[in-house]
Amino acid sequence: MHRALSEFACEGIFMNGRIRKRTDRIIEKAMIILRTVSELESYVGRERNNGRSIGLVPTMGALHAGHLSLVERAVKENDDVIVSVFVNPTQFNNPDDLSSYPRTEEADCALLARAGASVAFVPSVEEMYPSGAKREREFELGTAAEVMEGKYRPGHFQGVAQIVCRLFEIARPTRAYFGEKDFQQIAVIKNMVESEGLDVDIVPCPIKRADDGLALSSRNTLLSLEQRAIAPEIYKALVAGVEYSRSHGVKETHDKVVELVNSHEGLDTEYFEIVDARTLLPVEEWTESPEVMGCITVFCGKVRLIDNIKFR
Ligand code: PAJ
Repeated sequence: MHRALSEFACEGIFMNGRIRKRTDRIIEKAMIILRTVSELESYVGRERNNGRSIGLVPTMGALHAGHLSLVERAVKENDDVIVSVFVNPTQFNNPDDLSSYPRTEEADCALLARAGASVAFVPSVEEMYPSGAKREREFELGTAAEVMEGKYRPGHFQGVAQIVCRLFEIARPTRAYFGEKDFQQIAVIKNMVESEGLDVDIVPCPIKRADDGLALSSRNTLLSLEQRAIAPEIYKALVAGVEYSRSHGVKETHDKVVELVNSHEGLDTEYFEIVDARTLLPVEEWTESPEVMGCITVFCGKVRLIDNIKFR
């Protein structure tokens, strides 16, 4: 139960997915929307003083069932769940990608209220970056941050680490939830938590897919109907790759997956790497590491889609 909601300068509350006017009554099971760091800090201070556990789900909004699966898990495992909705400029290395990123705040808040979140934290860029949206320091993220996404999107993980670290400092979560769709992001965040000495459990959650296999992503809304129709071929190629790998080596399997994806007009593989699940460094033999993942990034027109699959 949220106590004394009126103490927070929230502009409104959500109940049953519908926004209501701010009220001084004490209401159970309502979600509040907070927009400033100080509001969130006082909320967290109160909850932690009362011995309540806090689950944090960082997102960039345009929420779909993948995000909501993280929120639902967090709701089961924590007393309070804070979901941040913030399109973080410092993790985009392409200005067009940042400006075209879908923004659907009202729908997001309605979905979060229905999923049982306690707080939607929806700050402005100025609020999160009072001295300007730039990188202020380098985080130690290990070699996991230098390969794949790290190589093709220079600085991306420094931006992710910067915002996630700031969110951890403000929300002081007991647990934080991340999707395995961004497999490398989880490895990098775990390294950040260790190098910063933060006290938070990182909880990885499985990938949610559409019925045709396409990994759910906010970017899917940017696909045309034709592009949406061929995008599931990415996952189909990964599944076929796993089958193929039973009788072929790593290099042959790699080439087969890339060939399968690129055989579809409109799909263009940026990279496909078969890596050790922990270090994210490439493997040459299936037996080389206890857990082997295949991570792929494909351009579907201008939309950059990522996916991954466990090989061993
Ligand atoms: P965003 O892409 O909005 O994703 C927020 C969280 O939802 C991430 O942990 C992501 O892995 C997870 N997620 C997205 N699609 C999913 C799917 N289909 N199945 C399961 N989980 C899925 O990742 C980010 O935002 C940002 O980098 C962020 C961590 C918020 C920092 O800005």
